Parts: sequence; C-alpha cells; structure tokens
Amino acid sequence: MGVKNAITIKEELCVGCGLCVADCPNSYLELDGGKAKPAGPSCIECGHCFAICPENAVIMNNYDTSDCEDAVPMTQIDSDVLLAAMKSRRTVRRFLDKEVEPEKIKKIIEAGRYCQTAGNGQTVEFTILGEKQKEIEKTCVSMFRFFFRVGSVFDASMRRRTIDDNFFFKGAPLVIIVSGKGDMNRGLASSYMELMAESLGLGVLISGFTEGCLLLNPFLRSKAGLKKGRKIYSVMVIGYPAVKYRRTVPRKPAKVSITGGKSKSF
Ligand SMILES: Cc1cc2nc3c(=O)[nH]c(=O)nc-3n(C[C@H](O)[C@H](O)[C@H](O)COP(=O)(O)O)c2cc1C
Repeated sequence: MGVKNAITIKEELCVGCGLCVADCPNSYLELDGGKAKPAGPSCIECGHCFAICPENAVIMNNYDTSDCEDAVPMTQIDSDVLLAAMKSRRTVRRFLDKEVEPEKIKKIIEAGRYCQTAGNGQTVEFTILGEKQKEIEKTCVSMFRFFFRVGSVFDASMRRRTIDDNFFFKGAPLVIIVSGKGDMNRGLASSYMELMAESLGLGVLISGFTEGCLLLNPFLRSKAGLKKGRKIYSVMVIGYPAVKYRRTVPRKPAKVSITGGKSKSF
C-alpha cells in the first residue's frame, strides 16, 4: 500500500533534526549522513513530514502544496464552548426557503475533505443532488408510500404515518451524499461536515430513509449520479433551520468499561 517517490527532501534546507523520520507512520524516511531521505518502499502521503518540518524542507511530489496554511491547533477553540456546542447540536427537520451560499457549501465540503481516512485513502466523495433533488425525492416518496401500504396490513401504527411530498428532504435546498470505498471511513467525514454546517448557522438532517431508498433502488443511485461500487456513508440534508432549540436534552449515561479493571463512571 502506498506510493513510490512521493517525497523529496530539499537537502540544502534539511538540518537533520529527525522529526520527520520519527513521525512517519510508514517508516518511509531515514536519516543518512545527517539528512533525511526516503528509504522505505512506499509512502501513504499523509503529509506528517511536510507538516512537522521546521525548515519547510519537504516536497510532496504528487500534491500542490501552495494553498497549505500555518497550522491552527484545536486548542484555539475553547473546549467548554466546543463541548457545549456539540451537546446543543440537534437534528433539524424544518428548514427556511433560503438557498445555501456556494462559499458555505465549499466550507462544508472542505471540512469533509480534511477528515482523516484509513491509510490516508482519501476515497470519500461528495455528490450534490442539484437539479435532480426534487425528482429523487419524488421517487423516494413513491417507494415509501408503497412500503407503508404493504406494511400497514401487518402493522396498524404504519397506517397513521403520512408520507408527504417533502418527507425526505423537508424542503431543504441542499442534499449532499457522502460516499466512499469500504466501511472504514463511514460517518467520519459527515460528522466533520455537520459541525462545519452548524457553525455556519445551518441545520442538518442525516437521512437514513433516503439512504435506504438508494440502497434498494439501483436506478435511483444512478439518477443521483453515484458511481458503481461506492458505499453510501450518509445522506446529508442541509439548509437554514426554521427552528431554534433552547436547551440540551438528556442522554443515557455513557457506558464505559475498562478492560481488565473496574467499571468507572465518567
Ligand atoms: C445514520 C442516521 C440516520 C438517520 N436517519 C434519519 C431519517 O431518515 N429521518 C429522520 O427524521 N431522522 C434521521 N436521523 C436523525 C435521528 O433520528 C436523530 O439523530 C435522533 O433522533 C437524535 O436526535 P438529535 O440528532 O437531534 O440528537 C438519522 C440519524 C443518523 C445518525
């Protein structure tokens, strides 16, 4: 796994501090004659060597690094504020009739793009439903109405549930399908994206119902523009919220056990 000839070290800048060598997760680099140099068979191009080098002596051969910025540590965000905001996050199911600005969409995608991926695979993709959104919702609604008609024969509670025309996307202007290869990265990018969306004043509904329809219906998947073989990680319904939640809600206590030790409450 990995790429050959991924890294070049600018010898004239390298001071041989060894930080990149010690931090490489793939043992790709070594110190030779007081200079770092690639030695391992392949590199996952995670960029740790690029990010850690105090002399900026690392070149990532397959990437344009011109837009890389000075690191902003998460510690700049007050952890109490962050935790309180995370606890205040709520699924939004009522949206204003207001478009999401392109620069906000860009930030949401950027948050997903920068999420960690197994082996730095970066295989997560983002599909914006765009013009097909209404058509796709219509097909999902038809599918669900059919399921509910059949289901209500066996389950009386299903008779009381109405599937209205906006049942899936709730009138939200933006739907992003997050997809990828394999299950390893499931949900991670969407969580980053959801937090970014919330910080931009937007609300998010993760729509498992839409995901279910897409899984069941290959024509719907192709209508949505999802490539064959891609796993759907989440369907994110996004827009300006028409609701405001005033307080956090209770949750069950965290179930935490310590392997080989006594249980502890946190
Ligand atoms: C994977 C996943 C799928 C979900 N699917 C739906 C859905 O199809 N429709 C819906 O109304 N809510 C859906 N939700 C939202 C959950 O119902 C919601 O997270 C839960 O009720 C807790 O509320 P909260 O998100 O406001 O804390 C989904 C959430 C997740 C994580």
